[in-house]
Amino acid sequence: EQTESSDIQEQDVMNIAHRGASGNAPEATTFAFDQAAQTDHAWLEMDIQKTKDDELVVIHDDDIERTTNDEGEVGDFTLEELKELDAGTWFNEANPDKADESYKNAELLTLEEVFERYGKNENYYIETKSPQLNEDMEEPLVDMVEEHDLVDNVIIQSFEPSSLQTVHELNEDIPLIQLLWWEENEETGELEEWLDVTSAPEAMDEEDFAEIREYAVGIAPHLEDYDGNEVIDEAFVQKTLENDLLIHVYTVDTKENMERLIDWGVTGIFTNYTERLDEVLSKK
Ligand code: G3P
Ligand code: CA
Repeated sequence: EQTESSDIQEQDVMNIAHRGASGNAPEATTFAFDQAAQTDHAWLEMDIQKTKDDELVVIHDDDIERTTNDEGEVGDFTLEELKELDAGTWFNEANPDKADESYKNAELLTLEEVFERYGKNENYYIETKSPQLNEDMEEPLVDMVEEHDLVDNVIIQSFEPSSLQTVHELNEDIPLIQLLWWEENEETGELEEWLDVTSAPEAMDEEDFAEIREYAVGIAPHLEDYDGNEVIDEAFVQKTLENDLLIHVYTVDTKENMERLIDWGVTGIFTNYTERLDEVLSKK
């Protein structure tokens, strides 16, 4: 019997801190996670990948160039090498108005460091990022969640159904969320899910939802495509709920969009501004 969606949904709308409070501090560092942890009930969202020496490290991009002072693929560096990098200065340069001297030399974190820092005080919304590059990351991930007694504090998300299915086989009590990303096919003009997980939002039917429900408690679609066109609407949110799946939408940073999505009935929102969403939710 797999985890029911009601087991994890303590709030009507989950406040999911995308890479920590990444609008205000360098993503995926203690600065971003500490700030997110100040918002009650916020879930710490993070992406994990494998180092050259098979450690689980928290980083979004496959390449370290954007968020550190070096370049190359995450998997080509040992943990010791990654730990020497400065994962904070890029943020100060990109956000002079939010720059803070203490962010300089911020360290990349292992998943274990995150679990040890916050323990059962926080909830973790962990993405198995690029499973094709980070082979067999699921078993050490599940082991670590179990060793830290965090099964009740964790959601695992992925774009790759096979990664989620592997986690489900290892521990069926861990709630899973299927991430979705649709792109327009330039020839047909139709929306297509980039990994072919399912049909276009308006075409998804009971069978599509049932397939996802076999392993996951919900889906996490994006709101807008790269051109700012919205790919989901209220009818899609309602259809998802009617098919017994949670729906958490990424990545939403304006109060206007947050309010609109809450009115549509979404059960969670990923945001870089957790305190902003908290304010919106407290007024509802
Ligand atoms: O995990 C939800 C959302 O974070 C997916 O997009 O690219 O920010 O990991 P990304
Ligand atoms: Ca993510």
